Amino acid sequence: MKTLILSASPLAEASVTCRLATRLARSLFPDGEHRVVHLAEAGLPPCDGRLEVITEGENSTGYLPALRPVHDAMHWADVVIFASPVHNFTVSALLKNFIDLMVFESHRPSFMGKKALLVATAMGAGQEKLFSYLQEVVHSWGFCVVGRLGAATSMLEEPWYEAKLRAAISRLRTRVLPALAEPRPRVGLRDLIAFRVWRLVVEINRDNTPIDHAYWSERGWLDAEYYFDCRSAAPARWLAGLIAALVRYTIVHRRLRPVT
Ligand SMILES: Cc1cc2nc3c(=O)[nH]c(=O)nc-3n(C[C@H](O)[C@H](O)[C@H](O)COP(=O)(O)O)c2cc1C
Repeated sequence: MKTLILSASPLAEASVTCRLATRLARSLFPDGEHRVVHLAEAGLPPCDGRLEVITEGENSTGYLPALRPVHDAMHWADVVIFASPVHNFTVSALLKNFIDLMVFESHRPSFMGKKALLVATAMGAGQEKLFSYLQEVVHSWGFCVVGRLGAATSMLEEPWYEAKLRAAISRLRTRVLPALAEPRPRVGLRDLIAFRVWRLVVEINRDNTPIDHAYWSERGWLDAEYYFDCRSAAPARWLAGLIAALVRYTIVHRRLRPVT
């Protein structure tokens, strides 16, 4: 098994989160090949905020040469471990910038069904919020998150906490290994809705972003329930379709309101 740890701490080699992710990778895949990419050392430019990356394609931007090695490393891996410290209850600024540079992946996802793990550390709290945001992002890139591990840095030296951490890693092992072998992962309501809303965005913006429309059309996603073959509950699929129809109605019939 080839794993890539995408380490998002500014502390690079000294990162506690990266150390935890490495421990998890070695525990899950003792015979695997492990690589680490520190975003702090990747030389990525700040996102310039221009929309051409979406409308004209990622090749139209100047930052692709810097991004390419990281993107390629993610494609090389069987499992990508996203490892971020909690900074003010969300991902580090390094990871947020990386996500912004990768916005084309949300429009034209290329990581279909690739497995991901999320690892976060915080002095105290914020791991859940970080996981919720990050999972939504990487799902929109086509990843399938098979496990998450969050730890409290302030407790890592405590023997009782270490025992709990060891138990959590061992529980993850029993869940993650079967999930990696599962050809048709289970997808929940939230992700089905997110897919249907993206699908709607692509359909509605056919004239503004024809490259998105062509990309989705070539892959058959404009008629699909999800990016890849998956198991999902029939009521969840129905509800996702209903919500997408309601969103379409508010857009087409000019019912969108300013957010207050
Ligand atoms: C800018 C900044 C913001 C932080 N925000 C939080 C926070 O919201 N909640 C928290 O519990 N810890 C917070 N911390 C502490 C880090 O999450 C914690 O030290 C983490 O384990 C560092 O991981 P690293 O060694 O991989 O960088 C923050 C630290 C920094 C530097």
